[in-house]
Amino acid sequence: MARITAGVATSHVPLLGVAVDQGKTGDEYFGPIFAGYKWTKAWEKENAPDVVILVFNDHASAFDMKIIPTFAIGCGDKYKPADEGWGPRPVPEVEGHPDLAWHIAQSLILDEFDMTIINEMDVDHGLTVPLSMMFGTPEAWPVKVIPLAVNVVTYPPPSGNRCWALGEAIACAVESFPDNLNVQIWGTGGMSHQLQGPRAGLLNREWDNKFLDMLIGDSDAARFIPHIEFLRETGSEGIEMVMWLIMRGALGKATKCLHRHYHIPCSNTAIGHLVLEPTS
Ligand code: DHB
Ligand code: FE
Repeated sequence: MARITAGVATSHVPLLGVAVDQGKTGDEYFGPIFAGYKWTKAWEKENAPDVVILVFNDHASAFDMKIIPTFAIGCGDKYKPADEGWGPRPVPEVEGHPDLAWHIAQSLILDEFDMTIINEMDVDHGLTVPLSMMFGTPEAWPVKVIPLAVNVVTYPPPSGNRCWALGEAIACAVESFPDNLNVQIWGTGGMSHQLQGPRAGLLNREWDNKFLDMLIGDSDAARFIPHIEFLRETGSEGIEMVMWLIMRGALGKATKCLHRHYHIPCSNTAIGHLVLEPTS
């Protein structure tokens, strides 16, 4: 049987990808940010899963206004890094796990989550930056990845409650896969940030840390945070945090925090990072 053994949450700021690609992770600006991922890098080496279900959002790289899937699952066998305007990142191709991905797609759809199935897609910073943060600069990524794309770019994004429920359904899907696989689920994006308009640059350390607190332990209060609260308290792009709720929902009733990191600022964004273990 496959099992979800841990959940990881991390911001996915594109500038962090630039820092990795240009060898600047130890400098004065990036050093304190990357220091907070050191623990996780070592832990991932020790606890490398077979597969990561990587919940992320595409930033108008693979999708545009022509097609906007609310929830989409990658069932392909590989994904190339996207060209986001200055050439694709010099990182390895991402290898999928079609057998598990199709199994999850079937389980979710029969469980009444109407997933979009993707067989071909380039993946942008939303997916490749978290891989760089956890694994550095390997020749090949040490895990297979099932991309799970969520629309948080074009209104209306899914509710936090729906995201949490999708996580619960993902856990059921994984547990009904017959092969013995160690699976992690990652939620990416966030934390507070607004990239445009009069409130550009908005950061909210206090609210972000309350949100981190809410993902640890046995409360499910975070699933009921309304969109308007994300928008008001964390800026227009803070809504990316609903993707963390998919990860948290998949971990079951209660979690233990193995590692936590918060740093302000990185580019226009607050950096948040959690490693959680299911305890029930
Ligand atoms: C930034 C953050 C993001 O999450 C993103 O997708 C793009 C840019 C930023 O802070 O620069
Ligand atoms: Fe983003």
